[in-house]
Amino acid sequence: MYSDIKKEFPIFHNNPWLIYLDSAATLQKPQHVIDRVSDFLSKDYANIHRGWYSLSERSEELYWQARKKVAQFINAEDDEVIFTSNSTDSVNVLVWSLIRSNTIKEWDVILLSTLEHHANLLPRQMLAEQTWAILERIDIWDDGKLDVERCKKMIHEKTKIVALTLCSNVTGMLWLDEIKKLVDHKHVKIKHKKIPSSESEVWSLKSEVSFPYIVVDASQAIVHKRVDVKKLGVDVCFFTWHKLWAHTWIGVLRWKKELLKSLTPGRVGWGAIEKVTRESSTYLWSPDTFEPGTPNLVWAVSLLGALEYLEWVGSWSIDAAYSKLEEIEWPLISYCLKEFWELEKQWKIYLLWSKDESNRIGLFSFVTKEIWWLSLWSFGQTFATKDICIRCGAQCAHIFHEGISWESWASTKTGNIWQSCRISLWAYNEMSDLEKFFEELKEIL
Ligand code: ALA
Repeated sequence: MYSDIKKEFPIFHNNPWLIYLDSAATLQKPQHVIDRVSDFLSKDYANIHRGWYSLSERSEELYWQARKKVAQFINAEDDEVIFTSNSTDSVNVLVWSLIRSNTIKEWDVILLSTLEHHANLLPRQMLAEQTWAILERIDIWDDGKLDVERCKKMIHEKTKIVALTLCSNVTGMLWLDEIKKLVDHKHVKIKHKKIPSSESEVWSLKSEVSFPYIVVDASQAIVHKRVDVKKLGVDVCFFTWHKLWAHTWIGVLRWKKELLKSLTPGRVGWGAIEKVTRESSTYLWSPDTFEPGTPNLVWAVSLLGALEYLEWVGSWSIDAAYSKLEEIEWPLISYCLKEFWELEKQWKIYLLWSKDESNRIGLFSFVTKEIWWLSLWSFGQTFATKDICIRCGAQCAHIFHEGISWESWASTKTGNIWQSCRISLWAYNEMSDLEKFFEELKEIL
């Protein structure tokens, strides 16, 4: 019998042997999301913006409902929520807006960690190339933690962007507390050079936008932890919906309203315009100005369904839903850590990095010395023959994998790229999935 959560996901009914340990790459979809999209397409679908008929109005209403629900979900204003295609696209939208607004100049510094996903890195490399800015990297210690004091020292008056993940897709470590500390540092020490005297002064400082913009990748964190952008105080936050029960090809870029005022859209087109003349055009206010072209209506409805599903899990409270999901995941995480400890002693299987139980999600990347002759891809294929889905490669984090001092303790390499294997869990996983995974891993070893 499946658990209450698992039985909502038809993929498991249709593939009864499936052991899905790749949820960080994409989450499976509950029946409610599938039905919501199918209902929309069969009952309410039409293009939006100036369709003077009921179908178009209903479609537009659902599109806006989705935006409002996302805004409530992350505690943002409606017009701060920009729909994009995914996390990568969100950073591209941000970067092109910064380029067009001439915000970043020669010798300005963009600071990011060596652990960033390529979505958070590659568009910034492009930004640096276009503006002659400099990329600086914060190295990560072997415990997977972010050294906040070191970060603070690296920030100076030329630092315009600090881009960090809220949770690494390689280590599974959460950096929510560290990022909160950096935000406080920015507002208190850098800009105002004084300690705020009251709670309300702290809040008013946090709503202001000044350099460096603190930009966070919430793609992994938001699946497991509630992200309140106002409490966190970051200037920009982005994530993708396919990791959150909705369909692929819809993401969110949330930036502070105050920041919106100073940014020129990086891409233009219909839906974003106020008036077009032969020479030039004027544009609408956010969010429309940042969403040119026909938006992804269908997948916006799917994210509406995803949030309704989350409410259902928590009996109409999103916070309760997160607590319930954490309760389910916790024993699974503990079990994995215990098994990895044992494997390290016996087989030299190493986790990247931390074996800390706290401040982490159920995501584990590992390497091994014992099977250096076996490419980790074939390792993955071996699992695949047993219907166990894991991910092998550089996990969209080449720089991090290159920076590891492999000679001392690990692992395998294909061509020039060091790799790791990764398993990632969500609340539809059961203990038996993990037992089978570890059994198979031992068998291979
Ligand atoms: N970005 C996805 C991951 O980290 C594919 O797995």
